[in-house]
Amino acid sequence: MKKVSIIGAGNVGANAAFYIGEKNFADVMLVDVVEGRAKGNALDLMEAAPVRYYDAKIDGSDNMEDIAGSEVVIITAGHVRKPQMSRLDLLETNARVMDPLILQIKQYAPEAIIINVTEPVDALTCYLWKKGEFDPKKIIGMTGVLDTSRLREFISKELQVSTANTTAVVIGGHHDFMVVIPRYASVEGIPITQLLPPERIDKLIKRTRTAGTEILSHLKTATAHYAPAAAIAEIAEAIIKDAKRVLCVSACLQGEYDVRDLCLGVPAIIGAGGVEKIIELTLTIEERHEFEESITVIKNAVDTLEL
Ligand code: 2OP
Repeated sequence: MKKVSIIGAGNVGANAAFYIGEKNFADVMLVDVVEGRAKGNALDLMEAAPVRYYDAKIDGSDNMEDIAGSEVVIITAGHVRKPQMSRLDLLETNARVMDPLILQIKQYAPEAIIINVTEPVDALTCYLWKKGEFDPKKIIGMTGVLDTSRLREFISKELQVSTANTTAVVIGGHHDFMVVIPRYASVEGIPITQLLPPERIDKLIKRTRTAGTEILSHLKTATAHYAPAAAIAEIAEAIIKDAKRVLCVSACLQGEYDVRDLCLGVPAIIGAGGVEKIIELTLTIEERHEFEESITVIKNAVDTLEL
């Protein structure tokens, strides 16, 4: 099997390993600086293998050298928000966490496709790309797959339909100014704008934008981790299987949408080459305005980083 390494064996990283094991498409190396955390979680996950029929091998280590040979490296290390914090409050602290990881990934897994989950995702995905001088097609921020999954769940509950029939598009930043485009959300191709009144759609959009904060308000000492982990596994699977999935991810724009040298959420074709093609949506004037607002939040954050 191909190899996926996950840096950070906390809530998100360990659950991403769990979902990858359940989907059975790659071996997993969990790595964490906290001694024993990766090894303990890996042993626990593998002891489920007999009853969950994993062929995937999940191992754990506190040594970054063990990411060698990875097709995909997933970065989940770093601090998470506490109640009343914004994701951007983590920027400086988590950039310092990312610094040594950039050097170690370049040294031990230079050809890997990297999925960044460390918050604030868009700004730190851009930092990873520029500081590491990586191939932009091989750098992906896990953002829109999570946001669209949330909106799809909310649409499903609102209309009492299967989540399997719902689709959604979320672009821009993974923050409160994310751009949720109702006319691109559907139930089996039927736009939700034909199925729900504007005020109900507005409520679903607002809930999608604040879903992470909503969960944090309940958990208080942890942020969401099951849905983020599932979104990570979805992207990793598309890469490992060369699935050509169209997913909303934070991609490194080089002129698309008239944006250059910035990472933000767009729909893209994801396969063995990483971000194989960025899909440029036609946006209405209002949608473009929201998109520009979202871009400004990310750009202002990136401008504070020493790149
Ligand atoms: C979320 O939206 C943790 O940012 C992540 O839940």
